[in-house]
Amino acid sequence: MKKLDGSNKLRTAIFISGNGSNLKNLIKFSLLKKSPIKIELIICNNLKAKGLRYSEKYKIKKKIFFFKRKITDENIILKYLKKNNIQLICLAGFMKILSKNFIKNFKGKILNIHPSLLPKYKGLNTHERVIENNEKFSGCTVHYVNASLDSGKIILQKRVRVRKNDTPKSLAKKILKQEHLIYPRSLLKLFANL
Ligand code: GRF
Repeated sequence: MKKLDGSNKLRTAIFISGNGSNLKNLIKFSLLKKSPIKIELIICNNLKAKGLRYSEKYKIKKKIFFFKRKITDENIILKYLKKNNIQLICLAGFMKILSKNFIKNFKGKILNIHPSLLPKYKGLNTHERVIENNEKFSGCTVHYVNASLDSGKIILQKRVRVRKNDTPKSLAKKILKQEHLIYPRSLLKLFANL
């Protein structure tokens, strides 16, 4: 493996909407020598997102777009990403659905993390549905983003046991811990040979 000295790391944008624990985790990972990514931008659709604090803390540029005029906003974001020479996008708790056109512009270069064992439980409220269905296992998945929701090629998954007394909250917490392991691992798996 070639040494990653910062100059050959992938220029990455992280898209968030909320707490940003995955963002924080990816930032910490990106600072390691072995990391194949360098985080250049945080894109967010929510002014109140707690995760925005990591922009100041780690001195990473942030941009907020509300996606009210989706196509217009997406086009502005695309220009902004290109201007910043972004090579990779990691969605991390980003609650908007990107258009086909947007995805086409970054074909094979957008990753997402989803809190279920895809292809099961695509979409929202995964933990509620998992518990309602008395599933014995749930988990998380890192996958490529394609034009259909939560359906792109799977990169890594981690299984988590669902206990009888689990609530959506306790399950979310357990799964989030695993998310923090598999997102960096997925990046290493994909790009370790850069
Ligand atoms: C994570 O569970 C992620 O899988 C889902 O939204 C949650 C975001 O958490 N898409 P955070 O904002 O990274 O803390």
